[in-house]
Amino acid sequence: MSLLDPAPPITPLSLAMREGSQAAHTEAESSAFMAELTSARVNAFGVRDYLLRFREVYRTMELLGTELSADPAVAAVVDPALDRLPAIEQDLAYWAEVAGAPAPAVFHSPATDAYVARLLEVRAWAPLFVAHHYTRYLGDLSGGQVIGRVLDRELGLEGRGTAFYAFPAIPKPKPYKDGYRARLDALGLTPEQRAAVVGEVSVAFNLNQAIFTELGEDMAGYRR
Ligand code: HEM
Repeated sequence: MSLLDPAPPITPLSLAMREGSQAAHTEAESSAFMAELTSARVNAFGVRDYLLRFREVYRTMELLGTELSADPAVAAVVDPALDRLPAIEQDLAYWAEVAGAPAPAVFHSPATDAYVARLLEVRAWAPLFVAHHYTRYLGDLSGGQVIGRVLDRELGLEGRGTAFYAFPAIPKPKPYKDGYRARLDALGLTPEQRAAVVGEVSVAFNLNQAIFTELGEDMAGYRR
């Protein structure tokens, strides 16, 4: 190799994040709970218990998003149009009522607590937080859209209980996701930093998988 040779092409960060999590994504999609949810076969208790877990996750992510907003990597992705906490609260109220089982104000379970604990750990190095942000919000703008539509159609909800999947401030997810990926690609991280972020996406997927596994343990009680 001579000095005149061009530098080897670097995979854009967003592509490395997507490729690095492809296998975990397939696994998440095929977990018993997600497969049932995507087919609208989960009852109100199941949806409530799913939302209880993710309310803790989003509460923490959205607090950290504000706290870390001075960091350029975090500033590149955080956007109030993505915020899910108010939507989750709204859906929880609906599903708790349908289930006839009130939602506690705070929820703990081993998988939820582990997810929250990891989010609090990555506070120490903000680009790792971006990996968690990507995993949830780009997922919500992708598969989440499919889940929301199926639930609404199959259960005749007419918009009730599916605010989690609705992004009124993002009418076109596709160009939004393209812009999000372009901002990730422009972060200018070192190779070591990129590797750490890509690795953290896998950590985030595993934490999600642990929540689905936990919910799957109660599958018999959650099937409609
Ligand atoms: C169970 C049902 C799921 C379905 C049907 C589903 C489906 C999809 C689809 C079709 C895409 C591609 C969208 C596009 O090309 O823009 C996608 C992307 C994505 N999904 Fe999922 N997904 C599911 C679950 C999940 C879960 C549980 C997570 C994370 C915890 C997740 C995270 C992501 C991410 C981060 C992307 C964006 C990939 C990228 O373009 O960089 N998905 N999903």
